[in-house]
Amino acid sequence: MNQHENPQHAWVLHTRRSTYALGVNAAGFLVHRYWGARLPDAGVPAAPESEGWASFNGPAQLLPEEYPAWGSGLSYVEPCLKATFADGVRALELRYVSVDVNGDTDLVIHLRDSHYPLVVSLFYRAHPDYDLVERFVAITNNGDAPVTLERAFSAQWHPPVGVQYRLSHLTGRWLDEWHIRRDALPHGTTRLESRRIMTGHQHNPWFALDDGEADEERGAVWFGALAWSGSWALTAEVTDFEATMTRVSLGVNDWDFAWQLAPGETFTTPTAVAGWTDGGFGAVSRAMHDYVRDTLLPHGGGKHKVLYNSWEATLFDVDEPGQTALAEVAAEIGVELFVMDDGWFKGRNHDRAGLGDWTPDAKKFPHGLTPLVERVNALGMEFGIWVEPEMINEDSDLYRAHPDWVIHSQNRQRTTARNQMMLNMALPEVQDYTIGWLDALLRNHKITFVKWDANRNVSEPGGWGGREPRELWVRYTQGVYRVFETMRARHPHVIFQSCSGGGGRADLGILRYADQIWASDNTEPAARISIQEGFSQVFPASVMEAWVTDAGTLPLDFRFAVSMCGALGIGANLLHWDAEARRQAREWVALYKEIRALVQLGDQYRLLPAQGQGYSAVQYMAKDASQGVLFVFRTHMAEPATFPMLHLRGLDADAQYMLDGIEGARSGAAWMRAGVQVPLKSEIVWAEGAMEYKIGDFTAAVRRIRRIGA
Ligand code: DGJ
Repeated sequence: MNQHENPQHAWVLHTRRSTYALGVNAAGFLVHRYWGARLPDAGVPAAPESEGWASFNGPAQLLPEEYPAWGSGLSYVEPCLKATFADGVRALELRYVSVDVNGDTDLVIHLRDSHYPLVVSLFYRAHPDYDLVERFVAITNNGDAPVTLERAFSAQWHPPVGVQYRLSHLTGRWLDEWHIRRDALPHGTTRLESRRIMTGHQHNPWFALDDGEADEERGAVWFGALAWSGSWALTAEVTDFEATMTRVSLGVNDWDFAWQLAPGETFTTPTAVAGWTDGGFGAVSRAMHDYVRDTLLPHGGGKHKVLYNSWEATLFDVDEPGQTALAEVAAEIGVELFVMDDGWFKGRNHDRAGLGDWTPDAKKFPHGLTPLVERVNALGMEFGIWVEPEMINEDSDLYRAHPDWVIHSQNRQRTTARNQMMLNMALPEVQDYTIGWLDALLRNHKITFVKWDANRNVSEPGGWGGREPRELWVRYTQGVYRVFETMRARHPHVIFQSCSGGGGRADLGILRYADQIWASDNTEPAARISIQEGFSQVFPASVMEAWVTDAGTLPLDFRFAVSMCGALGIGANLLHWDAEARRQAREWVALYKEIRALVQLGDQYRLLPAQGQGYSAVQYMAKDASQGVLFVFRTHMAEPATFPMLHLRGLDADAQYMLDGIEGARSGAAWMRAGVQVPLKSEIVWAEGAMEYKIGDFTAAVRRIRRIGA
């Protein structure tokens, strides 16, 4: 397909099961034509023509434009682009200019302002295997005067008209992230966002739209996400035209945003991705999981090691003998990667000092980190370390030397949170300083894992040091990405984990650098089941590190079963575990090593969702359907409890399978259609002639699924 063969200026992107089509209409608008189940090219509707409605709404108001620009015509719907030219003109008029087509999957459509030489290039890439389309935009100022961008979103998406959609999204707060919400989308504009300079615990830049009837297995769903780790915005607007019209836009947040585009400069937006499925919310997640693992993660296909993390055991009380003692028990249990968390660097005896001074504390590590790293290696484990590169304590050598390096506003107090301030990562000198110490740390020690933490959000966003203070939001994130990128290039074997007080920086943008995310600081296992389930809407289990800790009072086997649904870690104080607990832990770790490829790299099915339920089940199945593992959890059920049928998924219908704990093989069809009960029962116990319940709450089952024969 190229422009000459395509005088109608109409394009169709196919994925395996879906079609996405756009085109230029007679009036020159680039408009959306179709998005949904795969259609032959001939069946795709033509580009809608421009018609107004009375004197109050011009054509632009009614058209599903792919990238609406603000200011010209009678359009009041959410635009993607808003800008001011040097002469004060604020009305944009984008017109189609040309297209570059690269094979069947890649398309770049160039629009240009009708008067000013501002070029807006829309990049599209279809991912046939995941039924996804990626989009981003490059805005180039070819004029000789600056242009100020005030909104530059990545994409606007148009699900079919005439449907009252329900919006699924994720909400939360620190210690309580990843609640899945499903809300009917009201008329008007719904806005989800972060104004925090980080992705945030509160909302995640991910959405799913359905007609209100979809479930885990069935129903058409249009979904998408933004690959950006800074402030972002999602607007979902419903208007009355064509019965109802819904538009979803995603991009860097335009709240307090401005970007001065000098002559010759280009502003490139982050990538937004969106997809369609008719397989319900489960299929949405599996498409996202495959896309994340196959195309984003630096070490996508790799299986993560069982790690130990010191945080909940020792807090800031970290030193060579203490960490060595923990490492010895960790090795005995089967841990493969020992991670020393916060507390190891100069003056870090509490959270009031140290951030910024990234050399080992001389009292805690008189001979540096090398003896500990070597001991850990000698125990057969790799060594990982915690850092918080974007933060600084007032009580640090770095702050004493460079008080101007923090984000601040003159004549205003510098608000601290957890006694720390934020470094201005937009400044090249701050980036270089960070690259310098992090690089030295990785060069001088055998470190294979870095947990990158960030424990607060912005305040007093005075500027970043350059011409337009409101560029801070984007430049900050670009600065963080530059440090990550440099580290990835210099130390490609190192696994990074993204953490921001738990799940405050979890997005597709950071996953190009970090293979893992610390989903929440909440490690209490009953809470964790729901947290993990919310997280799984977007991210695969390999990305989700999950520790067994001492938080709460629930039995060890329940805690292990919960954490085995991700990349297993242990964060408890192992020195407090007795011989029996260590023995049990060793067995669980050994089992996890057998099944981790299924959990981390397989297909995930939320058989019975956990949020709001006392009994839940999740299954992970190998891509070739040869084996899988079923996890069943009972948190609280009133007695007498009845246990629902679990219908396994992803099996080969004609093959025979065994399920641990059930006698005899059955066909895949039988396991999937007839289902199976996995009761987690209370027991009646007779004690001294009296009847007592041994309550079945907080029990779990981990059952392997095996195909018999070939
Ligand atoms: C917040 C993280 O989420 C915790 O796991 C831990 O690393 C602490 N920060 C350390 O300060």
